[in-house]
Amino acid sequence: MHSSLILHPAYAVGEVDPRLFGSFIEHLGRAVYHGIYEPGHPTADGDGFRRDVIDLVKKLGVPIVRYPGGNFVSGYRWEDGTGPKAQRPRRPELAWGVTETNEVGVDEFQAWAKKADTSVMMAVNLGTRGPEEARNLVEYCNFKGGTHYSDLRRANGFEEPFGIKVWCLGNEMDGSWQMGAKTATEYGRIACEAAKLMRWTDPSIELVVCGSSGSGMCGDWEAEVLKHTYDYVDYISLHSYYGNAANDTPSFLASSLDMDRFIKTVCAIADYVKHVKRSKKTMYLSFDEWNVGLHSHGAPFEKWSVAPHQLEDVYTMEDALVVGTLLMTLMKHCDRVKMACLAQLVNVIAPIMTENAEDGGRAWAQTIFYPFMHCSAWGRGTVLDGRAVSPTYDAKNAKDVPYLETCAVYHEDRAEIDLFAVNRSLEEDMDFTCDLEAFAAPDGEAAVIEHITMTNADLKAVNTAEKPDNVIPHANGDARVEGGTLRATLGRRSWNVIRVRLA
Ligand code: AHR
Repeated sequence: MHSSLILHPAYAVGEVDPRLFGSFIEHLGRAVYHGIYEPGHPTADGDGFRRDVIDLVKKLGVPIVRYPGGNFVSGYRWEDGTGPKAQRPRRPELAWGVTETNEVGVDEFQAWAKKADTSVMMAVNLGTRGPEEARNLVEYCNFKGGTHYSDLRRANGFEEPFGIKVWCLGNEMDGSWQMGAKTATEYGRIACEAAKLMRWTDPSIELVVCGSSGSGMCGDWEAEVLKHTYDYVDYISLHSYYGNAANDTPSFLASSLDMDRFIKTVCAIADYVKHVKRSKKTMYLSFDEWNVGLHSHGAPFEKWSVAPHQLEDVYTMEDALVVGTLLMTLMKHCDRVKMACLAQLVNVIAPIMTENAEDGGRAWAQTIFYPFMHCSAWGRGTVLDGRAVSPTYDAKNAKDVPYLETCAVYHEDRAEIDLFAVNRSLEEDMDFTCDLEAFAAPDGEAAVIEHITMTNADLKAVNTAEKPDNVIPHANGDARVEGGTLRATLGRRSWNVIRVRLA
């Protein structure tokens, strides 16, 4: 099978906002407790944060982390997670049926974010609470001092404001499972009023309004919500999870086509509202929950326990391929999708897994860690508007699925192109070519820096605490430049990164 890609430096989609490689930590399962925070763990620092996890988060390269939910945020009282730990209340947490100890809250999370070289995307509760509590939280976090909530923060030991820039106006407010779910009109109104108060408290913040909870739910919700909020917010959110419950791998591998359609649809709706309002402003997208999985939904746990094992999906080789295609889809829409959060970061549907200290305390990277790490490392540049020519197949959920999914990122400053690619074929390797003549420098030939591949004979292969390196990438691909043309074999069902120095 042969495929090719046409690229030209003059044709670009846009610059990737590094926040496209964001992630998400919710008070859910063992994401916070035993994930990022475990005072009894051998690697814990003075604040109780696991250093082994921080090292993996740094390796992944995550510039922003959404917090504290998720469904959790829609019943959350942020004040519970501030001040002296001994006085913090334990509460029944209704979204996930557990007990929340509040040992970690915004005070601790912003400190963790600094240690992990990341920033906070803070969600406010617009389910059981409203604009008043939301603006108080902005005051607590971002006001310098001299007011009730900013002085409370200072009294709690944080003299300097946290300076949290990005704020989400609730979470999945269209979903019946959400505490305080709303109609689009109800939500549009409360989101608009919350946005006004929050921005009047700190004019420098950016605001994300809730879009739909899944691609199948999108349409009227976005149109109505944006009619109320268009002038007050900067981004609309999208959420989507893709699974392979039917064990139909060709369809699963086509998941990114749905994500692509979802993004285009939300752009079209946002642009329709822009036109209706005769607005000059363009609404950007924040794909602030995306991933494969939720395989483990419904796994048993003890009701009202603290930090049980919940949503601990174990990711396979085929999951990594799909994550690679989803990442490329996000990058190819970088002109509109400015932020995205892989949901989530640790233990809960996550690239990083840990054991509790009493179970051995190990931490390791799941299969999906690697395509994310690669895109975060080399995907921050100019996404080229390439034209791929590839044979296609028909899956149950999509027709004309290209075997080749690819995305090229140009770094003019260091004369480099980084090309990401998945060969969706389960049977055939692919001969891939890409003409680089348009990038030719007068003084020499382009050359391949490295061709990283990740594949496995068993598409269900996973990494575990015992075998953390079972599925990992290797710099063993055969990419080379011959007479100005890049040539490579893209192995069947493989993830590839081809890095090219342009002379
Ligand atoms: O990420 C897990 C859950 O999925 C989040 O809490 C919610 O927003 C979504 O439905």
